[in-house]
Amino acid sequence: MHPDFDLDPDLLYLNHAAIAPWPKRTVKAVADFAAEQGRLGSKRYLTWLAIEQRLRERSARLIGADSAAEIALLKSTSEGLSFIAQGLDWQDGDNIVTIAQEFPSNRIVWETLAERGVALRSLDLSTSTAPEADLLALCDPRTRLIAVSWVQYGRGQRLDIAQLAAACRQRGILLCLDAIQGLGALPFDLATSPVDFIVADGHKWMLGPEGLALFWCRPALRDQLSLTEFGWHMVEDMGDFDRKSWRPAESARRFECGSPNMLGIHALEASLSLLEETGAAQIAGAIEARIARLIELIDQAGFELLSPREPQRRAGIVTFRVPEADQSALYQRLMAQGLMCASRGGGLRFSPHFYTPEHDLQRAIALTKASAQQPK
Ligand SMILES: Cc1ncc(COP(=O)(O)O)c(C=O)c1O
Repeated sequence: MHPDFDLDPDLLYLNHAAIAPWPKRTVKAVADFAAEQGRLGSKRYLTWLAIEQRLRERSARLIGADSAAEIALLKSTSEGLSFIAQGLDWQDGDNIVTIAQEFPSNRIVWETLAERGVALRSLDLSTSTAPEADLLALCDPRTRLIAVSWVQYGRGQRLDIAQLAAACRQRGILLCLDAIQGLGALPFDLATSPVDFIVADGHKWMLGPEGLALFWCRPALRDQLSLTEFGWHMVEDMGDFDRKSWRPAESARRFECGSPNMLGIHALEASLSLLEETGAAQIAGAIEARIARLIELIDQAGFELLSPREPQRRAGIVTFRVPEADQSALYQRLMAQGLMCASRGGGLRFSPHFYTPEHDLQRAIALTKASAQQPK
């Protein structure tokens, strides 16, 4: 096992697209924080704030943002997407272009705008060979926003965000990126992929806890998002409790209404430190090698690959079907035998990370084959 992880050797962990196990240093950061909290309460609050600042700095570097002040720490991807949907000044007759196979959070938030006269236009990925061009073909002069996942949760299809962002800029369309299935697995840079919004919770490819998400909004757009949550923490003069007048913070802190999730902050900061030390290119290369190997094994086993084959269309997810097997019964059997995976996108979804031992891939496919052949 990789020295930074302490996974139970009886598990085959191919489920980072759901919830990742924490690295050892994250486990330690949480344990240390808990012990300190119990002993000293908030005595070292200034140190906690320094860790919060370090997390914002790491997050800014992860996406190529100009400064830590551009990062808001929210409770989930769904919350960030909701801020965007509820915050923009929609006009009756506007439309949003998206993908039919998006995760529910990235559909429902936009559907709520129907009552304001905003239509949702969805591209069916199963019939598209050029999704970026097909998304743009769905746009018209009333398209205000394209809302897509960088990597689809079901079958792992990756979009070319640089291409899509350039086209959106040219046409004056906002681009909202649900990055939860990409960030931490693949390098990202706002300089080459100038999207308008990025939202991603930390519990998948960033190897952090649930309940703490990164939110980035192009600074020039910040004032265009009307706020939907309010409290002491989101005002410019945050520490001045006696002050009666207030205005939203200039920075992205305006999206953080109340007390920070300090426990989660300690955890995610530790997780991102591992990603930074390892290096984004190294991580992406290791994941790519593992996905390529899985596809080879899936082909050899005679399973049906549902994910894209082209390397530039893949990230950390491989989804496949075992012909003539009851997929959901097979999934249950695999989980019961310690193969952590998911039932998504019409098949079994395997999602290794950079540290996943390569021989686990072979063991996982062998176990799948054996389980599919077991009498029901
Ligand atoms: C693409 C995508 N978006 C959003 C979510 C939900 O994220 P959160 O729980 O942070 O709202 C998921 C979770 O699986 C996802 O895969």
